[in-house]
Amino acid sequence: MSAKPRKILVTSALPYANGSIHLGHLVEYIQTDIWSRFQRMSGNECHYVCADDTHGTPIMLRAEQEGITPEALIERVHNEHFTDFKGFDIAFDNYYSTNSDENRELSRSIYKQLKANNLIDIRTIEQLYDPQKEMFLPDRFVKGGCPKCKAEDQYGDSCEACGATYSPTELIKPYSAVSGATPVMKESEHHFFKLGECENFLKQWLLESGDKAPLQTEAANKISEWFESGLKDWDISRDAPYFGFEIPDAPGKYFYVWLDAPIGYMASFKNLCDKKGLDFDSYWKPDSEAEVYHFIGKDILYFHALFWPATLKFSGYRTPTKVCVHGFLTVNGQKMSKSRGTFIMARTYLNHLKPDYLRYYFAAKLSDRIEDIDLNMEDFVARVNSNLVGKYINIASRSAGFIKKRYDNKLCNKLDATGQTMLQTIQAKQADIAALYEARQFSEAMREIMALADIANEYVDETKPWVLAKEEGQEENLHQICTSIVNAFRLLTIYLKPVLPPLTEQVEDFLNIEPLVWTDAESLLLGHEIKPYKHMITRIEQKQIDALLAESADTLKAQQPSPARHGEQQQNKEDKQITDSTDDTIQFDDFAKVDLRIARIVKADHVEGADKLLQLTLDIGEAKTRNVFAGIKSAYAPEDLEGKLTVMVANLAPRKMRFGISEGMVLAAGPGGKELWILEPHEGAQPGMKVK
Ligand code: 2FM
Ligand code: ZN
Repeated sequence: MSAKPRKILVTSALPYANGSIHLGHLVEYIQTDIWSRFQRMSGNECHYVCADDTHGTPIMLRAEQEGITPEALIERVHNEHFTDFKGFDIAFDNYYSTNSDENRELSRSIYKQLKANNLIDIRTIEQLYDPQKEMFLPDRFVKGGCPKCKAEDQYGDSCEACGATYSPTELIKPYSAVSGATPVMKESEHHFFKLGECENFLKQWLLESGDKAPLQTEAANKISEWFESGLKDWDISRDAPYFGFEIPDAPGKYFYVWLDAPIGYMASFKNLCDKKGLDFDSYWKPDSEAEVYHFIGKDILYFHALFWPATLKFSGYRTPTKVCVHGFLTVNGQKMSKSRGTFIMARTYLNHLKPDYLRYYFAAKLSDRIEDIDLNMEDFVARVNSNLVGKYINIASRSAGFIKKRYDNKLCNKLDATGQTMLQTIQAKQADIAALYEARQFSEAMREIMALADIANEYVDETKPWVLAKEEGQEENLHQICTSIVNAFRLLTIYLKPVLPPLTEQVEDFLNIEPLVWTDAESLLLGHEIKPYKHMITRIEQKQIDALLAESADTLKAQQPSPARHGEQQQNKEDKQITDSTDDTIQFDDFAKVDLRIARIVKADHVEGADKLLQLTLDIGEAKTRNVFAGIKSAYAPEDLEGKLTVMVANLAPRKMRFGISEGMVLAAGPGGKELWILEPHEGAQPGMKVK
């Protein structure tokens, strides 16, 4: 007897509506999509919802910069995101927006409940204010000199040059990144959610163990550290002008984007319920039997494991069943990089390669751990070609030709004994593979499936259908063997279906069958007419990868550098608590990542309005020169520098400064002021040479 279908609501983090989807995002959407597809295929009622995260200062300012309304911006980006996700076959049941009526209603009613439970406090705080633009400035919108290392043009929360973190009021000569004006301190009333008072409940929720544990052990440990340093109350309001929802009893005050963003999960589901006639309450009431799974990146754990369950609990809703946390994506072992062309947008990828390749590769790398996963381009090509094409797809092509030519596309209704044993071995793994999918151990699942593909291929190698085809009196034998091979292919397809939706559709068409479900692995396909085999997927060629990386480099050169996937809108202190602390030592691997190059200073100029910087044009043997702002004006006149060779860090992420974009850093030594010397290599060095 089959078990009662589970009711499961699944979400992925809501992407901000001011940036494009890139491969870093896709780790999560592909992970969530595989899991949801597995649930649906297993007969569970599973709804996967998501939405664009549309509110906040960066989105408001971005729209203003583009000369359009925030509504127009978020609508355009919504369409772009939707198309990108579709391109990767992410099967959302609903892809909505946080700027919706459902979300406004829910946010307000949740806030009212929290208030009724005496969990909202109103306090006056002081904050930096842009007197010209007449708005309070989030930390990221104040810039100035780093109080520690004095580097110019640093953000108000941390220094990109020395890594120091500080408050924007500590910046040297602070200025508003919005208008350039000098900010002033100004008081304002803010609404706080008293998170400190939720500590006992949160501890109890997080300490659930075994199957009931809402978090992976690594994540739970991180939360324990936060408990030790004490839970601070959470500032949930922002002053006008702000693009978001106004707080009901506080004109001119808006909900901070992170208050209404997770409520956006519920709002998207509410919208789906209204469209499909589903019962919203049966998923969200406190004693609900349904399960709620949130898939998120490690940088937003604080919000999902502390603020969110507390918000839900004290506004009368159920808490999440599990918050599934994943790590970041690196490419070729390093952070995605614009200069190396490894900051790959979803659209750019789709211009060159099929989604199935990436879905398979991510599946082969993903586990239930929080560690980062690496997209190594060489390994990507090798694995896709040898596993997906070489081991799996080829099984079909090794027998389908005979079935067409000799048996009129009809499978035999009997199997040879060895074939039966081989198929039983594959079928016997059904439960194990299901358990691996359920536990998000996708890499293990892929390993098991490829081991089964090896068994199927060994069977083909041993039975040698191409030899039998030339022998007399082997018609029946060959028919049975080819039928076993097609069945092995079908079983492997069932196991791979959550990972490879477009490919599976082609296989279902070739096999001439209804969409496969998980329990189909318990049966075999005998005496059935299939269709002629058509080529389904080809090997990746190196030239496709080269073209992808080249287009990525071009696309990004044309755009302003945008912040990485996560933390784009990190606007205040509590956002920062989620980043790991670092000490002053670095590992050899970190050092090895620094790309030091000999550079010729082609041109050096003064920078208007900067008292420490010179603008350098550097030749490092690439087609294009680099533009670098260097803090060496106290020691050099521009004319002293032109023609000199020096050393630069060539793979530093481009930085947007007040005066333009700096594409690297020049190395210099000395205590500062006049005593500062750029590093000059010995004769014989040429622009572009690596410094070792
Ligand atoms: O970090 C981010 O990209 C956020 N936009 C995620 C929001 S997830 C949820 F809480 F809405
Ligand atoms: Zn610094």
